[in-house]
Amino acid sequence: MVNTDCEVTVVARIPEDKITEIKNAVNIADYVGQTVQLKKQGKNLFGLCPFHDENTPSFTVNEEKQIFSCFSCHRAGNVFKFVEELDKLNFPEAVKKVADYAGIQLDVQSNTYSRPENPRLQRQKQILKMCEDFMHHLLLNTESGSAALKYVEGRGMSAAVIDHFGIGYAPDDAKLMGTFLRQQQVTDDEMRASGMFSERDNGQLNGRFVNRVMFPLRNERGETVGFSGRRMSDQQNAKYLNSPETELFNKSQLLFNLDEARSHARSGEPVYLFEGFMDVISAYSAGVHSGVASMGTALTSQQIQIIERTGKQLVVCYDGDQPGQDATQRALTLLRGSSLTVSAVILPGGVDPDEFIKQKGAEAFQKQLQSVLTPTAFSLRYLAAGVDMANDHAKLTYINSALQQIQSVTDGVERALYMQQLADQTGMPQDVLQAELDKMPQQTQSASTSSTGGDQYFPPEPPADAYAQDYGAAQYGPEPAWPEQDTQAPSDYATGVSPSGRVDRRLSRLQLAERDLLAYMLTDAETTLAVAAEPHEWGDDDLGALISEWLQYAQAHEPVIGTEPDYEDFLARQTGDQATLISTCLSVTLPPVETETVQNLLAVIDEGLLKEQLTKIKMALKDAKRLGDGQRQLELSTKYFNLMRRVQAQR
Ligand code: UTP
Ligand code: MN
Repeated sequence: MVNTDCEVTVVARIPEDKITEIKNAVNIADYVGQTVQLKKQGKNLFGLCPFHDENTPSFTVNEEKQIFSCFSCHRAGNVFKFVEELDKLNFPEAVKKVADYAGIQLDVQSNTYSRPENPRLQRQKQILKMCEDFMHHLLLNTESGSAALKYVEGRGMSAAVIDHFGIGYAPDDAKLMGTFLRQQQVTDDEMRASGMFSERDNGQLNGRFVNRVMFPLRNERGETVGFSGRRMSDQQNAKYLNSPETELFNKSQLLFNLDEARSHARSGEPVYLFEGFMDVISAYSAGVHSGVASMGTALTSQQIQIIERTGKQLVVCYDGDQPGQDATQRALTLLRGSSLTVSAVILPGGVDPDEFIKQKGAEAFQKQLQSVLTPTAFSLRYLAAGVDMANDHAKLTYINSALQQIQSVTDGVERALYMQQLADQTGMPQDVLQAELDKMPQQTQSASTSSTGGDQYFPPEPPADAYAQDYGAAQYGPEPAWPEQDTQAPSDYATGVSPSGRVDRRLSRLQLAERDLLAYMLTDAETTLAVAAEPHEWGDDDLGALISEWLQYAQAHEPVIGTEPDYEDFLARQTGDQATLISTCLSVTLPPVETETVQNLLAVIDEGLLKEQLTKIKMALKDAKRLGDGQRQLELSTKYFNLMRRVQAQR
């Protein structure tokens, strides 16, 4: 499982009974009541959600179950989860804080808490670290690395920065890395799994990265999980080459420099999102340490969730050129409804942050980062760019789309400000614009009364298949096409609506269907037994793991048909994050279960899993193409078409 975020792998080491003791000593309503004003309404307490701005309360605390949940942002969980979210702490830290509140003694040093890790993954990390150290050494101390060192220095990186980011050099000799690792008792299979090699027909391993400046890619705990290598001259091959997807490296989840950014965000700095990791490094040199970047892919929902756990404010600072502005608009759209306070910076002259710093210096850059635009202000500028205000038709089209943007602004003062700007910009009298605005069909603002609300005012979301927007897509030739009847697949996948009506635009249909299924199983013995009757595969994430666990649990504690399974006991065995996930699954009212419902959900899950596999293969194919690795392309294509046949057979 790639998702080894520290929040998830927490803690088996604070004894379970200690955690229970602390939880039992505290009433969640009292704890939450310190920050949120709660009012009793029926069984629950209601208040304004502390995790996002709202005017009508959608945040509830259930004293009986000792959980909180928010209908709007879908955050939910026990008291520990509340502290984790509110104070941006990890699980052990949150437990400690609640223990202090309850006056319970708990001696913890957070770093003693990580759950013992899968030895294979640990070994892989060790191997990547060896590679990192070796390449860092080659860069700094060898003749072969001297040109690379010159390149890196030429790009303004100081010795301290080179050290901090662990920058290195992958030599021209593709055999060297293998020879080095064998000397360190690394086996060929371990080398294959590391993503550092490409394999010949005869099984021979060659370095994947040749004559490149190497940048370690680190997870949120600062452990190296892959690399990106930059070519040094204007050769034909790809400018940047990344590690392939491995057990440790998942491109759509990784954010460059997250470990560093996290510690800075904790002390209140905004997180800066850049387009390229070279921008992160330059910003770092310029004193901005909380920058992150995705690895050449468009921003994904997974990454947004990670940023939400990292800080409170996000500033999007993409390249100043047209593609950068397009990407900013897309990112802002995707970020609507997130718990982050989002803003954007436009760099003048079409440059990227790295170029800006080189041209104007660190101080000017820091200053530029201060002049942020709200998402609406950015959108208005974006819409206006290139519009010829002398052309009536173009101007009217612009006014119409601008008014739509303004309409979604809830703050009256802010809205007035934009109306004023629009009037100045277009030369239209403000009262005429206001009359137009009043005439526009009212959009649903929010629906805190229904658990599925709050999504309705989202603009249409781009395909969840973020890989489709992968940087390389245009450059590296067409992808294998989806079969005819499947052309709707990506957007269908992204509808964010489950077969049973659960809505959450951040999640795929697969994830939503799994949530529904788990909810049904937890509350209906028959469904559990029906699902347990046949082996199934589940998603490769926490939810999938939880479903498997529940099925195992049910095997040991056979639920009785016609009763509600005793999931409270199961719940009690889970860590904070898992418990939260369970309460999120249960927080939606689903239609009564029927035989067809379960069949339907299982079919959606199967199909979703297949599609995920296909996406992964497509990614690997793209990498193989970049590398010109014909053998691997063939292998992957075969795999792809075999899977494709299974998809078609399912229809
Ligand atoms: P850019 O082309 O904007 O790179 O790609 P950059 O940050 O300006 O880098 P320099 O200054 O030319 O060295 C942005 C990101 O897209 C990915 C990389 O992750 C890069 O940081 N990318 C770019 C690739 O994966 N492959 C490429 O061939 C190019
Ligand atoms: Mn650049």
